[in-house]
Formats: sequence, C-alpha cells, structure tokens
Amino acid sequence: MSVIRTSIGSVSADNDEFKQHAQWTMNACQQLGDVSQSPDYVDRRYLTKEHKAANILVAQWMRDANMQTWQDGVGNLWGRLQSVKTNAKTLLFGSHLDTVVNGGKYDGMLGVVAPIALVNMLNSAQIQLPFNIDIVGFCDEEGTRFGSTLLGSRALTGQWQPEWADLTDLNGITLRQAMQEFGLDFDQVDKCKVPKETLLAYVETHIEQGPVLEANNLAVGTVTAIAGAKRLSVNLKGMAGHAGTVPMQSRQDALAGASEMILAVEKQATLAGVVSTVGKITNRPNAVNVISGDTEFSLDIRSDDDSKRDACLQEIISCLETIAGQRVLTLSLALTHQAPAVLCSTTLIEQLDKATSAIGISPLRLLSGAGHDAMAMADICPVGMLFVRCEKGISHHPKEAISTDDIETTLRVLYQFVLDFNLAAFDQTT
Ligand code: GLV
Ligand code: MN
Ligand code: MN
Repeated sequence: MSVIRTSIGSVSADNDEFKQHAQWTMNACQQLGDVSQSPDYVDRRYLTKEHKAANILVAQWMRDANMQTWQDGVGNLWGRLQSVKTNAKTLLFGSHLDTVVNGGKYDGMLGVVAPIALVNMLNSAQIQLPFNIDIVGFCDEEGTRFGSTLLGSRALTGQWQPEWADLTDLNGITLRQAMQEFGLDFDQVDKCKVPKETLLAYVETHIEQGPVLEANNLAVGTVTAIAGAKRLSVNLKGMAGHAGTVPMQSRQDALAGASEMILAVEKQATLAGVVSTVGKITNRPNAVNVISGDTEFSLDIRSDDDSKRDACLQEIISCLETIAGQRVLTLSLALTHQAPAVLCSTTLIEQLDKATSAIGISPLRLLSGAGHDAMAMADICPVGMLFVRCEKGISHHPKEAISTDDIETTLRVLYQFVLDFNLAAFDQTT
C-alpha cells in the first residue's frame, strides 16, 4: 500500500460522500453542456470562445479542489494535486473537453470531471499520496474543427506535425491563425511535450459508447485495447454543368460518383468485418440546377486489427478508383489521421479489475471501438481506461445519458484504484 495517511485522516469515504460527489459530477457535466456554440445543442470546438469558457469553468472546479491549474501551449487545461513527497512522479487522469457537433454531455467531460470529484474526496479524507495527481482536460480529441484528431494529446507526446499549421476549418481559418487568435503560438507547441520520466501512467474514464456494459448489467468495465483508425479526405473533380441540358450519358457528376463510392465503402467494410463511415460531405457548387463538379467526403475506418483494417482500406481504394474511372472523375485521396490499435497496460488492467472487485462488482474486460486520448498517451506512458455504462450505448448524440448511480460506482472504483495504486510497478526509482 503506497498511501501515506495523515494521523487524523480516515482512508474510507462514507456512502453519503460518494453519493454527494456523484451528484456534483453529474451537475458539473450538465453545466459544461451549456457551454456551447449553439443554443440548440452541445457544440464545443477547439480554439473557440467556448473552449476558453470551458477551460475557465473547469479550472475553477480544479482550484476549488486545491489543485494548481494552468493552460498549456496547445490549449489543454491542467490541474495538479501536489504530492507530499518531493520530486514525486505523476499519475495522470483525464479526457477531452471538446465535443462533436450536436453531441452529448459526457463523452470526454466525464473523464475530466469525475477525477476532480475524486480529488475532492481524497482531500476531505486528508489522504496524502506519494505521487502527484494531475488531471488534463484535452482541447481537441474529436477533430471536429480541423479534421485531424487528438491534437491536444499529440502535443504532449511529441507527435505535433508542422504541416498541421495549414489545416483549415469550414470558414477557411487555418490552425495557425486560430491558435494565434486564441493567444497561442503554433510554433511553440513542442514546449508542451511531457517528459516520459515524470509520468507513472495515464488513466482515462470514459462512457462506453457501446452496448456491452448495459447488456451485462454492469456500471463499469475495464478496457483492454482501443481500435486503430485511419481517416482520409476523398476529393472528386468532375464537370459542373446545366441540370437541364447536359445529357445523362455525358455527365461527370461528382456527387453521383460520391454516392456510388459511399455505398461501396459500406459494402466493403461489412464484408471485411471492420467499421467504416462517411460522415461529412462538401459539395460544390451545391445548387439545385447545377450538376456537381467538385465533391469531397471524409472516410473513417477502424478495427482492433490493423492489418484487417488496412486490407479493407486497400479494397475500398480500388473500388473508388474503378468508380472514378468509369465516371471520368479525378480522384484524390489524402490521409488526415492514422493511429494504430493500442493495448492498455496489463498492470493497469489488473489494478482496475482489482479495484472493481474490491467494491463488490464483477470486473468485465472490453474493447474500445471509439478513439480516445489514451491512444496518443500510450506513446509516452502506460495507459488504462475505465468505461462507464451509457444508456443504449448511444453517444455522439444529444441522447447520450448516464446515471448518477453509475457515477457513484465509478468514483468508488477510482478511489479504490488510487488508494491501492501500485507505485512500485510504475516507478523503477522507488
Ligand atoms: C472520437 O470520439 C472518435 O472515436 O472518433
Ligand atoms: Mn467522441
Ligand atoms: Mn471521447
């Protein structure tokens, strides 16, 4: 046991306290859900004034939990509960504070807010730890604004790419410009890198976004691996023209070509047993009486088996080339994101399972089909993930829902996990 207890402190929080902090966590997620670019739905994208407002709000909650706070050079928000030990290493908790358009209130936010509640509970039990607890609210996991994803976490791991400066949003604003307007400097992002030797592990709490926990009647589960993903931008150039005069057989209709391609993507993914999605389309000139001359769509493909995913992507690309050839369209493809499947640390899996058992729940291990900041963090430290049941597995939708009872269970698991954290397994210098 690596917990240093104060003489007056008690290590166990009582039931009411868990309930109260679960309710606080739920209220905080609701409050964050109101920080939105739209009055009608949750929409909080990277480098917007809502990003800034969310960081300010969450930083206050962190300070209320006696944490020091700062925003790093890419826009991630940090809080630290300093260890009593000098030169202590850090156990990092976190997830993301950005959302998809028309998203829910828990995807990402739960993994930032629940650890703040955890810190509040550790404080009120006067538990002092031989490691720092940091919480990071990542600024861009979803990739909604600039198409690329995990920008916040990849800034910490040294994966920040110079060519991202020219990524543009829907209004043609580049990432470099948007950072400048926010008060950040694209060229200084390298300074956000976190030295590996300071970190013990990264633990992300996240809604499951799938049906497994609900089907097993369980509030929480331990993630073993996160599916790898590739994202491409597909552009088709045809010939715009008059909708009333150009004969059907001589058209080079980019939108009709894209439609055939999208169905081919669906078919190939189904055949290969992977998941692939075309979720975004831009069409030009996009007019009722003009044949489309220029259509662009996104392609997202994932599997927990990288070679299966890549083989399917090759099939898809050859279908797209065939369709483009038949329709006399110019096809160009650009890879906008790639992340290999990531395994969670065996030691963290065991420790999360143990904490779950200790509070009287059967541990269940499951895979993550969704991407997470943990994928990037795995480059610099062991990662673990705790999944929390969400209603009907719905996410990336306003109907995303979790229960306060499940948050209470989550806090119990995290609390137990921290109290029993096996420091020696992660810190060779102890
Ligand atoms: C993020 O939620 C993703 O998996 O795309
Ligand atoms: Mn998401
Ligand atoms: Mn997420």
